[in-house]
Amino acid sequence: MSDELPKAYRGMAFLKVTSVKHYTDKTFSFTCERPDSFRFRSGEFAMIGLANGDKPLLRAYSIASPNWAEELEFYSIKVPDGPLTSKLQHLEVGDEIVMRPKPVGTLVHDALIPGKRLIMFSTGTGIAPFASTIRDPETYEKFDEVVLTQTCRDVNELDYGKALIAEIRSDELLSEVVGDKLTYFPTTTRETSDQMGRMTDCLRSGVFEEVTGAPLTPETDRVMICGSMAMLKEHKQICEDAGMAEGSNSEPGQFVIEKAFTD
Ligand code: A2P
Repeated sequence: MSDELPKAYRGMAFLKVTSVKHYTDKTFSFTCERPDSFRFRSGEFAMIGLANGDKPLLRAYSIASPNWAEELEFYSIKVPDGPLTSKLQHLEVGDEIVMRPKPVGTLVHDALIPGKRLIMFSTGTGIAPFASTIRDPETYEKFDEVVLTQTCRDVNELDYGKALIAEIRSDELLSEVVGDKLTYFPTTTRETSDQMGRMTDCLRSGVFEEVTGAPLTPETDRVMICGSMAMLKEHKQICEDAGMAEGSNSEPGQFVIEKAFTD
């Protein structure tokens, strides 16, 4: 059967969508079947998309589900004229997506040297890889404290993250593993909320220290960053100014960024 497929589809997994949830007019998440042989590390991404004639339409997507879950979960923006997301946002249960089953990425424990506190900085759908990491028991074996920040323009864009935290807190097994180690720090920049401002400004103003208990500390903090190119650049600069070195899979360091999602 697979011999009859156009060349571009060879080795691809065809996965049935099992649920779809729309959060805002700009974001939605969906789950799909997980191939039995598919293994990944928390924080990795895969190329996923839709069949499209001779060549599938693919884009890099972080796997948002934890690596122990039976299904795969993805969290996506909806770009009205985006080649893939304009179609993907209409997914329904039972539809099929395609995935190249070769997960990769730098937002992984292996790319960081040991530390005491893991801080994950995200904006918008940049929270997706961390949705996997904060549900991975290994995260809590490796770190005494875990901080997840997310900055969005509007309050309802934080709903995905809020639901995720609520799910962890109400899960009998996971809540025991996580205990009181996890701090969730959401902010908005346009719509009024309890905590306003970009995280980069919160770091510089001391608000980050106030909320999480300590300023960015290169000796003990390890950092993962995921968001737009501008956001990555600014957070990277803050880490470097603090004396931290960027890590990779081949040479672990004190902070890591992922450029795969920035255009
Ligand atoms: P702002 O509203 O001040 O631009 P976007 O949708 O443009 O990707 O932005 C998502 C969130 O990331 C917004 O809250 C935005 O704040 C924030 N943001 C944009 N650029 C940066 C940056 N360089 N550093 C930190 N946060 C940023």
